[in-house]
Amino acid sequence: MALKVRELLKLAHKKNTAIIAFECIDYNMVYAIAVASQKTGIPAIVMVEPATCIDKNDCHPTAFSGIFKGVAEQIDAPIALHLDHCYDFSYILNTMKNGFGSVMYDGSKLSLEENIKNTKKVVEAARVFDCDVEAEIGHVGMANAEDNQNIDFYTKPETAKYFCEETGISSLAIAIGSAHGMYKKTPQLDLERLEQINAATDTPLVLHGGSGIPNEQLELAFKKGINKFNVGTEYFQVYYAAISEFCEKYKIVDHYSKTPLHVLDLPKYTQNKLIDYLVKKLQLTKL
Ligand code: 13P
Repeated sequence: MALKVRELLKLAHKKNTAIIAFECIDYNMVYAIAVASQKTGIPAIVMVEPATCIDKNDCHPTAFSGIFKGVAEQIDAPIALHLDHCYDFSYILNTMKNGFGSVMYDGSKLSLEENIKNTKKVVEAARVFDCDVEAEIGHVGMANAEDNQNIDFYTKPETAKYFCEETGISSLAIAIGSAHGMYKKTPQLDLERLEQINAATDTPLVLHGGSGIPNEQLELAFKKGINKFNVGTEYFQVYYAAISEFCEKYKIVDHYSKTPLHVLDLPKYTQNKLIDYLVKKLQLTKL
């Protein structure tokens, strides 16, 4: 069943935990999320990032929302669709017109004033389409550049409060010691800062850069106000490993392996590996 991101975040807030949003690039990744949600009864969010998928013209937003809708209709567990990090207003508008009920406008590299101005424009457009808007204050950078250790990027509680009041966004991505990609050293989330941000604003908070953060830290972060938690790299790694494993398995040269028909078994093989990962990961939310 398809729900709005805002409805899932409300549920997470009520239960003092987070909904996990997984980055997807194709049908297998979306389908696996639906099956894992159905198996566990735990809601989840399907995310697409323009930089990794739609920009490459591999998939049009209409096609992606079509995949999502078709898959969501087959299950009772609620799942929602979200466009991740987007910097381009006309692109966001296009996805909102094409069935995305939630988008992220990322102006975190701009000045505060510019970020507010652009975010407000997205929020106004989103009202027309009854769409949710996530934005970012502070900056969640890249793990390979160790941006997660750069305190200058961290979100300040008073700026978070001001930004949310000025823009009227639905959720706020904050920088508290996480970053995108694989960490060089185990990250240490600034949970005290999280508590201060959570006390300063009622807007649901989002943690990006979820791959590689230890579970104990995540559980605390969920308790202290994170209501949406983004995972990308880790999910891609599981997919990549499943495809490699499949190819290795059918490399054996015998009479039958000369036929490319084995590829017909690839979707099911990878979906099962993704589902195993997701079922375990979703338990973290205790929903
Ligand atoms: P990771 O790739 O580090 O899990 O981050 C995902 C993310 O935050 C997408 O917005």
